[in-house]
Amino acid sequence: MRVVLVKEPVVCIARPCKVFRSGANPAKRVPRLEPNDMTKRTRPEPKPGVMDIAAYVPGKSAAPSGVKLHKLSSNENPLGASPKAQEAARAAAGKMEFYPDGSATKLREAIGQVYGLNPANIVCSNGSDEIIGLIAQTYLAPGDEAIFTEHGFLVYKIYIQAASAVPVTVKEKDATADVDAILAAVTKKTKIVFLANPNNPTGTYIPFDEVRRLHAALPSDVILLLDAAYAEYVRRNDYEAGVELVSNNENVVMTRTFSKVHGMGGARLGWCYAPPHIADALNRTRGPFNVNATAIEAGVAAINDREHIERSVEHNAKWLPWLSEELTKLGLKVTPSVGNFVLVHFPEAEKHSAAKADDFLTARGFVLRRVAAYGFPNALRMTIGTEEANRGVIAALKEFLK
Ligand SMILES: Cc1ncc(COP(=O)(O)O)c(C=O)c1O
Repeated sequence: MRVVLVKEPVVCIARPCKVFRSGANPAKRVPRLEPNDMTKRTRPEPKPGVMDIAAYVPGKSAAPSGVKLHKLSSNENPLGASPKAQEAARAAAGKMEFYPDGSATKLREAIGQVYGLNPANIVCSNGSDEIIGLIAQTYLAPGDEAIFTEHGFLVYKIYIQAASAVPVTVKEKDATADVDAILAAVTKKTKIVFLANPNNPTGTYIPFDEVRRLHAALPSDVILLLDAAYAEYVRRNDYEAGVELVSNNENVVMTRTFSKVHGMGGARLGWCYAPPHIADALNRTRGPFNVNATAIEAGVAAINDREHIERSVEHNAKWLPWLSEELTKLGLKVTPSVGNFVLVHFPEAEKHSAAKADDFLTARGFVLRRVAAYGFPNALRMTIGTEEANRGVIAALKEFLK
């Protein structure tokens, strides 16, 4: 007798099979995909809202060929990275085959030592952008709201939208965050308030008393994210980056970066100081090796090179007021800045507009930042550059405004 084995077609998605579904309600049945459904699907689509995100446009980084480039568009350190950090990066590059320490322990300990912080409450990241995004991803569920200010750093809105949450923009006063306006925007759905202090691209800041007042009036389950990317440059007695507020509360996070005063934008390195329960959550959602080995080594060297940091801050302290004054003398309005950049407003007259000035300066190698996307269609943001760049911009603008 012949035994005929009849093979059934294997259409796994339409057949009962053992599936282990994790999540809030693993027992809940999800309707299976029927073969007919497949014909209705044409291609993968991002989740709702993703295509509404305006992709971040970084500052320009090229001058016309044959013209010396002075890149003043991304608030980088004109003195570059610490020579010690560069040396550490070169040494680390020789061991590229090894994965980094996924906890960046050495770097967290070095940061902890310099700032007097418990390394357990520090989380390092691939630029502070990453940690800002992780906080959004970890704490915002679809439909939640997160607040930032009118001319606030654009990355906040991107990460809020990417988390399917609702971005809530509040008005500023004189291009400065307004605590009352922020508080007026808080609802039951608010989960995070993002505050860059000082802010980019305005360079303005709010005194720490105001930050404290904001925090005191926020519900205790709302995170106050203090983005202190430019903290090292601020020379004001009433300013604080937020260490103490983080230490004494469960809902404050301070983010910092190696991209500005440490001159390491290309290495992508940032960190946050957070209450233990928030650090714990971020350590679950971050990538297992989110900070690369070269950045860890360079970061340790950079944060310990006090001399380079002081030189960088001194350079800024000398040229920020000089530039602000010279620009004002040219008849241009400058928003008072405490960072390593200035926001320069151009006249209404078409021939002297920011767009025209940008073209004029770029042709001479001075590459500044257009800031229309930040709500300043007729302004340019200029990073404090080398002496040559700073004097060059003023000379070029004199000619432009003639
Ligand atoms: C206010 C502010 N926060 C965060 C960042 C992100 O810095 P990074 O991702 O390079 O650490 C920047 C960069 O320009 C910034 O201006």
